[in-house]
Amino acid sequence: MQIEAPFELVLFGGMGDLALRKLIPALFLLHRDGRLPEGMIYATTRQEMARDDFTTRIENSVRAQVAADYMDQQILETFIDRVECFTLDVNNLKAYSLLAKTLSADDVNRLFYMATGSDLYSSICKGLNEAGLIRERSKIVLEKPIGHNLETAQAINEDVAEFFAEHQIYRIDHYLGKETVQNLMVLRFANSLFESQWNQHFIDHIQITISENLGVEQRAEFYEQVGAMRDMFQNHLLQLLCITAMEPPAKLEPDAVRDEKVKVLKALKPITGTLINECVVRGQYDSGVAEGKPVPRYRDEPGVYAKSMTETFVAAKVEIDNWRWAGVPFYLRTGKRLTERACEIVVQFKEIPHSIFPLQHKNTMANKLVFRLQPDEGVRLMLCEKRVGPGMNVRPMNLSLNPSSERQTRVPEAYERLFHDALSGNTTLFLRDDELLDAWRWVDPIVNYWGEQEQRPEPYTAGSWGPAAATLLLARDGRLWDENS
Ligand code: BG6
Repeated sequence: MQIEAPFELVLFGGMGDLALRKLIPALFLLHRDGRLPEGMIYATTRQEMARDDFTTRIENSVRAQVAADYMDQQILETFIDRVECFTLDVNNLKAYSLLAKTLSADDVNRLFYMATGSDLYSSICKGLNEAGLIRERSKIVLEKPIGHNLETAQAINEDVAEFFAEHQIYRIDHYLGKETVQNLMVLRFANSLFESQWNQHFIDHIQITISENLGVEQRAEFYEQVGAMRDMFQNHLLQLLCITAMEPPAKLEPDAVRDEKVKVLKALKPITGTLINECVVRGQYDSGVAEGKPVPRYRDEPGVYAKSMTETFVAAKVEIDNWRWAGVPFYLRTGKRLTERACEIVVQFKEIPHSIFPLQHKNTMANKLVFRLQPDEGVRLMLCEKRVGPGMNVRPMNLSLNPSSERQTRVPEAYERLFHDALSGNTTLFLRDDELLDAWRWVDPIVNYWGEQEQRPEPYTAGSWGPAAATLLLARDGRLWDENS
């Protein structure tokens, strides 16, 4: 699909952390690759900013995030020429009329991107509406987390729906824009080899890990209110689970794909009451070492409450009550200040029923398929082969697919893909209203229970793989986290 020109992109929260770290660099890369047709980008800021300060910030953001190989001063300058700063107090409804004077009077391909807290979405929509800025061809992107729980997410959905039709709303989860996630769909649905094995008859269990080595950084104000469950689990981890577990959609069309993801969310076994302590682990990082340097504990980070109960780590054993997945646990975990930055989906196949080879334990011969989303994207299938030489000794070997090294191409950033899809009107990789609510419906009992208990999450050493209870969660089932791949 092509982006219709001319487009107008209005980035609310235009100088925020997300905009500077991810959104602006992604737009630059699209521009650099000639994939952004004629159009303008408006970044809104609360405080007035001189043009020079603004362009320095844009330039620094691009230079900090884009590899030197893809930088070019001339291209950077032509990119900066198409980015304007627009001062706007989003809560002042009257201020939007000035924005209307800046934007085209025609109904053009216009995208409003909400890179702000979701508590502002309703006021921004009202402001845009009052200024007559929402037209047939306008679209809105809503960043996660949308709401704080089911009730607030529902209210936001309803407020936004007053002004935008569902097909104009793009609820973004940038993990769906990662190259390996789309490759997972292709590998599953374009190869009879995998699809025929993709069920409880052949798969022992699945692990999904998103680990970060960074701490809370400068985002304590935001993070203290959300924690790992709302920041990463409710959205990124559950979305990866849906893509891994869904039935083959009838078509690669937005509603066909989203219908299948919703079915997975509806089939998730609820974790409530006493099951919560049994199946979900909550942790908070203590001091330790990250990248060879001592780092403080979470409670000592700037802006964090000294007795904070916010979790920086969650691990859970999740089950899907349907025919395909009955009896196959999905172990999900995410955390800050862990050993390394990585994201992997590990599909662990069942052991062979009987080994005919000497001195070989059958469980070391179980096949494993690993989808690595980052930092080095790729897919790996672990098989067994004969060790060269006398005897019949078996050893593991990996068949690897690596998108960048094999094809000599740059792997696009998730936000590049998603900006392109949103500007060209493709909602397949964005969440539908019911999908968002079903995810909250499953998460709500857990976060409510934690709120009532007022218990400190289990401490773990910064630079480790999280609290001991996360290891026990799998050990109880006779399994281990896949940590040395
Ligand atoms: C964001 C979270 O959605 O994802 C951040 O709010 C997290 O806390 C980030 O650091 C991780 O994204 P990525 O693409 O760098 O793994």
